[in-house]
Amino acid sequence: MREKVKEGYEEGDYEGDYREGRDVREKEKELFEGLFNEISGPEVLDLGCGTGLPFDQYLVDQGFEVKGLDISDKHVKKARENIPEAEFFQGDFFEKEFGDNSFDAVVSFYAIFHIPREEHEKLFTQIREWVKDDGAVLLTLGPEKMDEHRGEIGGEEMLWSSYSPEKNLELLKESGFKILETYTEDYREETHFWVLAQPE
Ligand SMILES: C[S@@+](CC[C@H](N)C(=O)[O-])C[C@H]1O[C@@H](n2cnc3c(N)ncnc32)[C@H](O)[C@@H]1O
Repeated sequence: MREKVKEGYEEGDYEGDYREGRDVREKEKELFEGLFNEISGPEVLDLGCGTGLPFDQYLVDQGFEVKGLDISDKHVKKARENIPEAEFFQGDFFEKEFGDNSFDAVVSFYAIFHIPREEHEKLFTQIREWVKDDGAVLLTLGPEKMDEHRGEIGGEEMLWSSYSPEKNLELLKESGFKILETYTEDYREETHFWVLAQPE
């Protein structure tokens, strides 16, 4: 699945197909406000950061120190060009080692559903280790149960995998998080499930 997803983002016209005209929207800003209210320091990690636009730019503009991780070389290169104030790393979610309690916030938008759902709990547990006890997380997750759902982004084949929102909330709780807010977003023909949570 990783190879296909990486290939899809390397080869596809991601910006033309998916990003065009998109900005941080009012509801998203509210969710970010909720995140900012829960944290007391500036260090944020963005998992599956893509080209860094618009979210990492938004975070940098708010005064945060942003690190981003993405499996696509192309996206990391663009992110570095787009937001020189942030630091971007190329690699899989599980490849890069950040120390425990390293971040005030961990965020991830439209990315976690690109790894097999059987690995989501392991990733939530890893995120719990990276985020400080008084930190918080803001994540978008799959809107429904999907087992290797196939589709297209930017003219290339793409894969998604997710449990239901209810099961995702259960897994987050089991990984040591308390759920603060959820939001189901309808964007073009897609639905996404946002979760704001903090360490229990
Ligand atoms: C739909 S894009 C979202 C990008 C960005 N978060 C945004 O909101 O515009 C999904 C991103 O996740 C990255 N990604 C997918 N699987 C990954 C993995 N296993 N490790 C790291 N990044 C991954 C892709 O390369 C892509 O940039």
